Amino acid sequence: MSSLSQRPADPVVGESHAHESAALHVTGTALYTDDLVNRYPGILHACPVGSPHAHARITGLRVDAALGVPGVVRVLTSADVPGVNDAGTKHDEPLFPVAPPADRPGTPGGEVMFVGHAVCWVLAESLEAAREGAAAVEVDYEPLPAVLTLTDAIARGSFHGARPTMLRGDAASALRTAASDPCQRVMSGTFEFSGQEHFYLETQASVAVVDESGQIFIQCSTQHPTETQDIVSHVLGIPANAVTVQSLRMGGGFGGKEMQPHGYAAVAALGAVLTGRPVRVRLSRAQDMVMTGKRHGFHSTWTVGYTDEGRLTALDVTLTADGGWSLDLSEPVLARAMCHIDNAYRIPDIAVHGRIALCHRTSQTAFRGFGGPQGMIVIEDIMGRIAQDLGLPAREVRRRNFYRSGDRTPYDMPVRHPERLEAAWDQVLDHADVVAREAEIEAFNATHRDRKRALAMTPVKFGISFNLTAFNQGGALVLVYKDGSVLVNHGGTEMGQGLHTKMMQVAATTLGVPLSMVRSSPTRTDKVPNTSATAASSGADLNGGAVKDACGQIISRLRTVAASRLGVNPADVRFSRGRVTALGVPGSLTWEEVVATAYSQRVQLSASGFYRTEGLHWDASVMQGEPFKYFAYGVAAAEVEVSRFDGSCALRRVDIVHDVGDSLSPLIDLGQIEGGFVQGAGWLTLEDLRWDDGSHDGDRGTGRLTTAGASTYKIPSLSELPPVFNIELLDKAHEEGAVYGSKAVGEPPFMLAFSVREALRQAVAAFGDAGEPGVGSGVGSGTVVELPSPATPEAVFWAVQRVRGLRSLQPVSS
Ligand code: MTE
Ligand code: HPA
Ligand code: CA
Repeated sequence: MSSLSQRPADPVVGESHAHESAALHVTGTALYTDDLVNRYPGILHACPVGSPHAHARITGLRVDAALGVPGVVRVLTSADVPGVNDAGTKHDEPLFPVAPPADRPGTPGGEVMFVGHAVCWVLAESLEAAREGAAAVEVDYEPLPAVLTLTDAIARGSFHGARPTMLRGDAASALRTAASDPCQRVMSGTFEFSGQEHFYLETQASVAVVDESGQIFIQCSTQHPTETQDIVSHVLGIPANAVTVQSLRMGGGFGGKEMQPHGYAAVAALGAVLTGRPVRVRLSRAQDMVMTGKRHGFHSTWTVGYTDEGRLTALDVTLTADGGWSLDLSEPVLARAMCHIDNAYRIPDIAVHGRIALCHRTSQTAFRGFGGPQGMIVIEDIMGRIAQDLGLPAREVRRRNFYRSGDRTPYDMPVRHPERLEAAWDQVLDHADVVAREAEIEAFNATHRDRKRALAMTPVKFGISFNLTAFNQGGALVLVYKDGSVLVNHGGTEMGQGLHTKMMQVAATTLGVPLSMVRSSPTRTDKVPNTSATAASSGADLNGGAVKDACGQIISRLRTVAASRLGVNPADVRFSRGRVTALGVPGSLTWEEVVATAYSQRVQLSASGFYRTEGLHWDASVMQGEPFKYFAYGVAAAEVEVSRFDGSCALRRVDIVHDVGDSLSPLIDLGQIEGGFVQGAGWLTLEDLRWDDGSHDGDRGTGRLTTAGASTYKIPSLSELPPVFNIELLDKAHEEGAVYGSKAVGEPPFMLAFSVREALRQAVAAFGDAGEPGVGSGVGSGTVVELPSPATPEAVFWAVQRVRGLRSLQPVSS
């Protein structure tokens, strides 16, 4: 066993502990970035001037009227940027669209690329004054043609950057064979599905101050403090050592704070530099929804070959991501989508083509799963259709296609431990009593015309690590004070996922102290430099490796100190729960005694730790390699009941078995699995982003996001939780070579929610053959149900109408 993954006797990891800030969360005392406003007297508030056009050239910008508004202090425009006017890492994202010079109005300026795109920012003594000032800014626009939908972008050839391809075997010839083989079938389809708003409770927020030496300190709700630091330093034209970024904690990030915060932090920092006063940027909910990037919606076209037994033989698929107006993270999102088109299934001959559409919408970005869900929804949709086409139980078709030991993915990575997926599948079958419940569902459906039930099981296989190998590194700074208390700092950020709690458990385990002796401190770029985003679910893997490394250095020094006091060999000293003992020697020392002795002997009591994931390689030009350290597995069974009157769906019961390796913190992991699943169910069944893009009324459309608040955008609430929600962690799942044998948990459970969507498909099918035995239990009837995503009650209602043959009732647009 590797020393990284091996657990000592009686470890603190593996115990269930409440989130380190749970008490602060529930009492409302946890501080978030914007709560700091009152601590900075004289702080200025910022408000953007947003474009009313989806695409237009700025031909004039006049700010005098704004400066006349009482309380307005300054208007920030492109002319104020001393460094690089760009908020992204791809240099395609001007922080301020370039305004024409004031003395030459009418000269062509920069372009605004979506409705709500900030042209300039007004700074004022109060938020009210900043808003009034923003309303008084005069901007002249020359409207330009806009691309408002994915289909429009595809039709017009409006794309960003590269078009990667991933190939194995010869999909075209395998599909020709399938078409002529009497024992095989071929099916084709087009499937476009929606993105998702992050709806973190805390909107984007930054507070910037400048000290007497010109050092800039930015408190920012960011998942990637180092990149926020990089962008701020580029914008200001100063080195990184003059910029410090702190991420206190986030009220949710979910990927929406991986790249999106940088520009807002840069606006706050620029304002602070130019006025000498603290500056706060905090978006309102509506601004956040209108201005920031979302999960990428995708368009897919596919042709699949399969045998009469439901075994996949070939797949040719084109995935087109809605990148929005700039690239942001669209390339790695697309890469992950392509790497997850297989999910848990072996597809012998396969061709995957990827494209990123340029649409005049927000620049779509990271969101839990990061393209994984968008790849996997396509194959799960295909699996559901194949089962119905063949009239086979969907769970049987899925199982028949599972990867087996020795298989490799389409990008040529070995699939290690596929038997764990089988084990999780069997455990769900057994513990969720699936076979008996399928019979009950069948009986229910036979006696109910207006309501139908269905149960579906779906698997998850999700690759852990950043595709970009360089990001797979972590850092930590561990301080032991003279009294023995421990302060842990690391490069990961806390967004509610419990990373700090896990890191404290790792430190307590490696140092052999009780958890109560360990505190963690907010993430700061001047404590741990050059960090990666807390993303790709790898926060605990990367920073846990680094925390363990730092603690290991301290322990190896203390081991020598303790050995000489106990009169033993250093190798025989044990640190556990605050006691320091030696093999075969009576008596012991306390941790505090050893630390005090070490201090008096001038032994260093702090260390910085580092970790990098070994064994990764990835060739993006051919989309081949081993981009992931391992796969996280999971299985869910969901039972739904659908009403044909309004398409409403009740999620009756959910059972999950999920693989987190040897859990670092089971209660935290359970919360992640619950939350991920519910967020996935929200994406698939409730959350319906609507843009005024002409697709609903046949008009041209303005490109405005019409679902810009909680009143029109429905996210899951407590009432959507299944009344029975059983979650088990897969046993005997030690992950060799990962910190204390654990696996990442943040994103994979999101995709367990495909079970809900597939159960809906089966329930809809059951309306087509009311009363016939078999339907509703996953046994298809030959009716292939096309289900939009999100499968909102409205969409489910029309799907039911279609299978019941009531096509004349369909609305024109669907
Ligand atoms: N859980 C909470 N409560 N809030 C969040 O914002 N983000 C998710 C997941 N779980 C998130 C969350 C996402 S998108 C990721 S990548 C992981 O947490 C990141 O944390 P980790 O790498 O420490 O697991
Ligand atoms: N998730 C998965 N992979 C990633 C991410 C993420 O948030 N960011 C970069 N690669
Ligand atoms: Ca984008």
